[in-house]
Amino acid sequence: MTLSSAPGKVYLFGEHAVVYGEPAVPCAIERRARVGVEPREDGKLRVHAEDLSLDGFTVEYGAAADDRPDVDVSESLVTAATQYVDSAIEQVRDATGEDDVGFDVTIESDIPLGAGLGSSAAVAVAAIDAGTRAVGTTLESGELAERAYRTEYDVQEGQASRADTFCSATGGAVRVEGDDCRSIEAPDLPIVVGFDGGAGDTGELVAGVRTLREEYAFAADTVEAIGDVVRNGEEALADGDLAEVGRLMDFNHGLLSALGVSSRSLDSMVWAARDAGAIGAKLTGAGGGGCIVALDPTPETETALSFTPGCEEAFRAELAETGVKRLE
Ligand code: PMV
Repeated sequence: MTLSSAPGKVYLFGEHAVVYGEPAVPCAIERRARVGVEPREDGKLRVHAEDLSLDGFTVEYGAAADDRPDVDVSESLVTAATQYVDSAIEQVRDATGEDDVGFDVTIESDIPLGAGLGSSAAVAVAAIDAGTRAVGTTLESGELAERAYRTEYDVQEGQASRADTFCSATGGAVRVEGDDCRSIEAPDLPIVVGFDGGAGDTGELVAGVRTLREEYAFAADTVEAIGDVVRNGEEALADGDLAEVGRLMDFNHGLLSALGVSSRSLDSMVWAARDAGAIGAKLTGAGGGGCIVALDPTPETETALSFTPGCEEAFRAELAETGVKRLE
């Protein structure tokens, strides 16, 4: 078996505004998706997923696009389990020229799905890396990020930024502005994540911001203000000024909240973190539900979150210095 892992991420700054050309700074965290693959000669794809939402679920189907799997689970679950893998395997075939290769694919992930932590990007990166290596090609991280981006772009019908896939492939903190993605220096960040057990609908939330922005000049100004926060945030990260990073994260959350993408549970977790003495706290990703990210070197925020109604899980997450890892 060929096994690769890739990390999830949090947004330190800039989600939503990045859609309108402002910069954003995501940061990879040590919560990973591991994808193992074994080539098979009959061209079929067999996907076995063991993660938070698809525990112990197996589906087997043929190479033809209309060959639907014959399994007794909901269509949406099958779609969720297979779409990203399908599309990632297409990238593997394209990158290696092995047009007819099939795979047994096993996914194991400790990144909650659809919660703003980049689970699909991590699966795409790890699947493409393991799949290409299994047939004798090792992609450098730029091409891996590009192919994983195309996977997300296809599955999400064009609603994807390069942030998640670049960050997952390269690791560390990155700066994304349009098509320009680069790694940036970041101090060791004491990251704490709170998860409400839910997920937001990214498409709907992005559309909501778009409408507000078209309707109100001050909403467009708010998006630009997020861009200013990000630029200040980059400087604070470069200076290693954690207090300033935290202050700017708080500000970023307020602006996202004004754009209507927070939720009661996200706000509760943000306030619980602040009350516990966190250096800063904000929602991460599309919002509407899912995760918050806070900075706190002490155990206080994690403890407070674990007692906060609406918070299902709280955990500390190290910054992932390394993106994709080749395990076997
Ligand atoms: O929830 P996530 O991790 O998929 O992040 C979405 C980030 C947005 O800026 C809202 C959309 C995007 O594609 O950049």
